[in-house]
Amino acid sequence: MSAIDPSEIRKALGSFATGVTVITTRVGGQLHGLTANSFTSVSLAPPVLLFCIDRSRKSFAAFADTETFTINVLNSSQRSLSDRFATSSGDKWRELRYVEDDLGNVMFPDAAAVFNCAKRQMIESGDHMIVLGEVLQFQQNAAVDPLVYCRSQYCVPAAIPPAAPPG
Ligand SMILES: Cc1cc2nc3c(=O)[nH]c(=O)nc-3n(C[C@H](O)[C@H](O)[C@H](O)COP(=O)(O)O)c2cc1C
Repeated sequence: MSAIDPSEIRKALGSFATGVTVITTRVGGQLHGLTANSFTSVSLAPPVLLFCIDRSRKSFAAFADTETFTINVLNSSQRSLSDRFATSSGDKWRELRYVEDDLGNVMFPDAAAVFNCAKRQMIESGDHMIVLGEVLQFQQNAAVDPLVYCRSQYCVPAAIPPAAPPG
């Protein structure tokens, strides 16, 4: 078997449609945030979530150091926020409207959902770190559609009508 090419497996993994999050934290008064779609729910009782961060990311040290983080699940009209937080260059916070949550992290109140978390565990795996957090507070906005990411494209969710009963 030949070695697996990271860029090829990345394409295959892109077939798994996800939502899009912007995950924020504050360390030493400094704001940090990145776009991430590696977010998933782990446990409901207690409520535990995870995301994976590449250890080479500029914001990695902040997420390694922090005790809390906030996950903003973007809505379908927040693509520009995803683009803004998916780059290392420039000031991500310039001319941006946001509010601070009780943890001091940035949250976007119009997001499809927001989870305010206490970091509980970090697990190194390959070139990434798995970051697990317990949800302390959350909110959801059922009136908006979540933003979807699939095969390197932003999409909107479309419901498939139920199949007609047989016979
Ligand atoms: C849709 C999308 C999903 C992403 N998901 C992740 C992710 O789960 N983990 C990660 O480390 N980077 C992810 N990235 C890349 C980071 O957002 C990007 O490298 C960003 O520049 C990181 O911020 P930083 O450079 O300030 O650390 C994603 C990018 C996009 C566009």
